[in-house]
Amino acid sequence: MTGFSTDWLALREPFDQAARAAPIDPAFFAALKARVLDGGALAIVDLGCGTGANLREIAPRLGGRQHWRLVDHDARVLAALPDALAPWAAARGLQLRVDAGQPPVIDGPDGLHVEVTPHQADLVGALSALPLAGAHLVTASALLDLVSAPWLDALLQRCQAEDSAVWWALNVDDRIDWSPGDAEDARIHALFRAHQQHDKGFGPALGGAATAHATQRLAHPDWRVQTVQTDWQIDAHRGAAEAAMLYAMIDGIGAAASEQAPDEAEAVAQWQQRKRAQIGGLQLRVGHSDVLGWSGPSRLRRRAAG
Ligand SMILES: C[S@@+](CC[C@H](N)C(=O)[O-])C[C@H]1O[C@@H](n2cnc3c(N)ncnc32)[C@H](O)[C@@H]1O
Repeated sequence: MTGFSTDWLALREPFDQAARAAPIDPAFFAALKARVLDGGALAIVDLGCGTGANLREIAPRLGGRQHWRLVDHDARVLAALPDALAPWAAARGLQLRVDAGQPPVIDGPDGLHVEVTPHQADLVGALSALPLAGAHLVTASALLDLVSAPWLDALLQRCQAEDSAVWWALNVDDRIDWSPGDAEDARIHALFRAHQQHDKGFGPALGGAATAHATQRLAHPDWRVQTVQTDWQIDAHRGAAEAAMLYAMIDGIGAAASEQAPDEAEAVAQWQQRKRAQIGGLQLRVGHSDVLGWSGPSRLRRRAAG
């Protein structure tokens, strides 16, 4: 997998945050809390963590004592973690401590205490080596569409064996709607979707099928599953960040489409030109969804009974 730049991760984060405002079933949070012994910390593993956007989204919602293990293979994004945490902590009135050679620690109101351990590892082919033992929650954001069905199945098996809840956020789901539309949108999107299924190191990528696949595999009488729509809505007229995001989407979708069909590169370039010319009045909705799974009370009761 080629790297994701820290600039791209920073550009998308506000759109991810807005997309993730949809409510999550309170039973999910209750089930997590029920797993932690008095005074203990929730153990969370974030796969493909980038610069920690998923922690910034979820940690305040979980509250209390937490230990996050942030896993990524890219040393650059892990090194950028403290710089990405600092403005977020300041804006929320949280205290971030980064002592030399020590993992970051975040403290906040109502007993929020988050210890963060960065962990550099390649997720490909090393599932058994991943530090998932004892994890109460295995989470990832914007990762699932990169992985293959067999890889995801193996991860899920591991999570169910550990009885770890899962929250896999911001999986693209193939819906892309421009307003105004263009006669070439459907063709370009088809090329883009085909490109998304290329192998990113995990085998043929699930792309837009990731949430549906995960939801189907999570189906089990003892498990509860929630899917939540978490679309990006990008309206250029709202400001410079939105316009920059739209330019990035026009560049990215076009580059993938041309790579998928080099003989159509000219038509793709013209499509990009038309989109850029419309930028001030352009809107884009990109379909995403989150999938959450956790074992329900019946399984917890059976475990307690022995
Ligand atoms: C789209 S980014 C998402 C980053 C972050 N979760 C977020 O929401 O901003 C995907 C992340 O997965 C990581 N990644 C991709 N392939 C990986 C692999 N084989 N092993 C470990 N990390 C990987 C990338 O380095 C990148 O940080």
